[in-house]
Amino acid sequence: MSGSAENDGVVLVVGASGGIGRAVLLYYLAVAEYARVVAVSRGERPAELAPQGERLSWLVSDYTEASIAQLVRATLSDGERLARVVICNGILHNAELEPEKSITRLNASAMHEVLHANLVVPSLWLAALPQVLRGSDSCRIAVLSARVGSIGDNRLGGWYSYRASKAALNMVLKSAAVEFRRRFPQVKLLAFHPGTTDTGLSKPFQRGVAPGKLFTPAFVAERLATLLNQLEPDGELSYLAWDGAEVGW
Ligand SMILES: NC(=O)c1ccc[n+]([C@@H]2O[C@H](COP(=O)([O-])OP(=O)(O)OC[C@H]3O[C@@H](n4cnc5c(N)ncnc54)[C@H](OP(=O)(O)O)[C@@H]3O)[C@@H](O)[C@H]2O)c1
Repeated sequence: MSGSAENDGVVLVVGASGGIGRAVLLYYLAVAEYARVVAVSRGERPAELAPQGERLSWLVSDYTEASIAQLVRATLSDGERLARVVICNGILHNAELEPEKSITRLNASAMHEVLHANLVVPSLWLAALPQVLRGSDSCRIAVLSARVGSIGDNRLGGWYSYRASKAALNMVLKSAAVEFRRRFPQVKLLAFHPGTTDTGLSKPFQRGVAPGKLFTPAFVAERLATLLNQLEPDGELSYLAWDGAEVGW
């Protein structure tokens, strides 16, 4: 819990070069209660993060299964345990793809790319964690989902691949929560909706956002960390927005 001494606790932030990933990393570096913060990214450690000394470890990954399994093992030193894991990977658009406004725009390679980044990569990280979790470990794990992954909330349609990737991600997280309930009863899983956050991902879609509803990554990081502190391990997957409100499935 916030304020308690977690001297042996390590925070793992995956996708640490993204807007939200970077803010989550900076948040955990700024609070004193964790022994170390391990960042994982496709990119190299930014120069401005160099003077963090031994509290920050920066691991570069190509997000292949082999890399993920190896880096999870490299995350902890003797006597350390995972206290927090935040998995931030996700794409909505890039130079080659954009969210589909119509089903007629579906394209196999673009859909595969979105599913890989948003579903397969976070799932592989989750799949690798049991290697380093012990049955008694108290650990809270957040994966960046999105409200548009809610089937019940889908009134506007469109964004086929992105919506599908987040709905499928939620299902993987739900199954993991059921499995972890027995194996790791002190682990809590959160599928987190950050709200529209000012990052490269949302940039092309910010025009219609109501005033005050475009969040800074730093605000979202603080909300995420606070929610993780408040949640108790209950064997369930929580699907929560930045304000703590439940998102319907
Ligand atoms: N921004 C929003 O408004 C918003 C709203 C709802 C949900 N989200 C979710 O929040 C998460 C973080 O998004 P963001 O806003 O911080 O976006 P961002 O700044 O574009 O960051 C992209 C993230 O995805 C990773 N990534 C990029 N391409 C990838 C690929 N091909 N394979 C695997 N990982 C890849 C990056 O990790 P590296 O460090 O390896 O580059 C980084 O963590 C995403 O899951 C997104 O869906 C964001």
